Amino acid sequence: MEKRATFGSKLGIILVSAGSAVGLGNVWRFPTEVGANGGAAFILVYILCVILLGVPLMTAEFIVGRNTHQNPFDAYRTLAPGTAWVFQGGMGVFAAWFILSYYSVVAGWTLQYLISAVMGRVTTMSDSAAYFTEFTQSAWMPVVMTAVVLLMSHWVIVRGVQAGIEKYSKLMMPLLLLIIAVLVVGSFAMPGSSDGLRFLLKPDFSKLDGGVLLSAMGQAFFSLSVGMGCLCTYASYFTDDARLLKTAGSVALIDTMVAVMSGFIIFPAVFSVQTVAPDAGPGLVFITLPSVFQMAFENVPLVGWFFAVMFYLLLLLAALTSMMSLHEPVTALFIERFRLSRRTATSVVTLSCIALGTVCALSFGPLKDVRFLFGLTFFDFFDFLSAKIIMPLGGFLLSIFVGWYLPRNLVIKELTNNHKLRFPRWLFVSFFFLIRWVAPLAIMAIFINELLP
Ligand code: PFF
Repeated sequence: MEKRATFGSKLGIILVSAGSAVGLGNVWRFPTEVGANGGAAFILVYILCVILLGVPLMTAEFIVGRNTHQNPFDAYRTLAPGTAWVFQGGMGVFAAWFILSYYSVVAGWTLQYLISAVMGRVTTMSDSAAYFTEFTQSAWMPVVMTAVVLLMSHWVIVRGVQAGIEKYSKLMMPLLLLIIAVLVVGSFAMPGSSDGLRFLLKPDFSKLDGGVLLSAMGQAFFSLSVGMGCLCTYASYFTDDARLLKTAGSVALIDTMVAVMSGFIIFPAVFSVQTVAPDAGPGLVFITLPSVFQMAFENVPLVGWFFAVMFYLLLLLAALTSMMSLHEPVTALFIERFRLSRRTATSVVTLSCIALGTVCALSFGPLKDVRFLFGLTFFDFFDFLSAKIIMPLGGFLLSIFVGWYLPRNLVIKELTNNHKLRFPRWLFVSFFFLIRWVAPLAIMAIFINELLP
């Protein structure tokens, strides 16, 4: 059999995985959830979810991928031959396909806003809400932008594992971190920004309930990309000396830092202009921020322009690296299962996502009244199905698979790189405790709580 590609370096491995994790979920979804769920208390619960559920589950996914060096579907087939576990792998790939389709729509909005920002429109528009509604409801531009971002991701994926995914992640991720640092400093420097900091740092525990917990967990899964085929696929390209626990820890740390820093960029800025609410919902970055860029820099429009361009560039870079990680599992499945060339496999995924993405993009405009199951639009249905159902379900099944089904020796062999690494005993004990008990029970409890009236 042909030798399978691997990533070239440990830094590359951390950056590609962080590229998957850091995305719209951090810069767009996280601040929205923080705003809607009461600020700092939500952040604390979120961080607990990341440590207790996210890191062990991410490690578990790495174990499945690195041990088999196969796409998720074949990975589960190899580890559990002749069982229904193969559906877990299949579901992950399928969900990646779905997420890529609707995720590209928001990435497409971001590209549109970046172009508008460069042309100076974001900082001069008179009514940002009207601009957003008009743009998202139109029949053409959102579809075109969705297709363009999918073609950008295609352009990288078609180049393969090292010359595509790794090379571009190594360029894009450091740039992204640099932009974040510049924006945080700028946002802090705005007069009145301390109210925003207080909102982010002072917990209001009265807001905590089952709903908040479910949101925090859903957000942690979404943000860390766990419970789907993406990290499993990336891990299938990891080298034998990659340290799985350490990689998971580093990725979770980078991801959480970027999310919290995005909050530090957005809320001080929002509070500093005072006329817009912090719980503005998904429109926060597309409706609220343009007004913030305008109002805060009324006297120095060039600085406002710079902020706007940097912010939407950041959002686009974050979105693209995550799109690459959603593109690859489906592509790898087509290459390995159906023996397609990388070029053909990537094209099949890109074209099918453009088709699905078009339906999602139009569900804000011409298809707004076409309701799918549960009375949701296509876009909302895709989001609901993947973030609220498939990712937690995938996480639950993953914890059962690695915690209970796989032989303990195999898990330890992967964690220790074939017994080359030494860890204190408490680390294994904690890992198995979290993955066998805490993760499945927590996911179930939160689900049941949500189902009860
Ligand atoms: N983690 C990405 C984000 O925060 O935007 C989104 C994502 C990528 C979710 C890959 C799921 C996934 F499998």
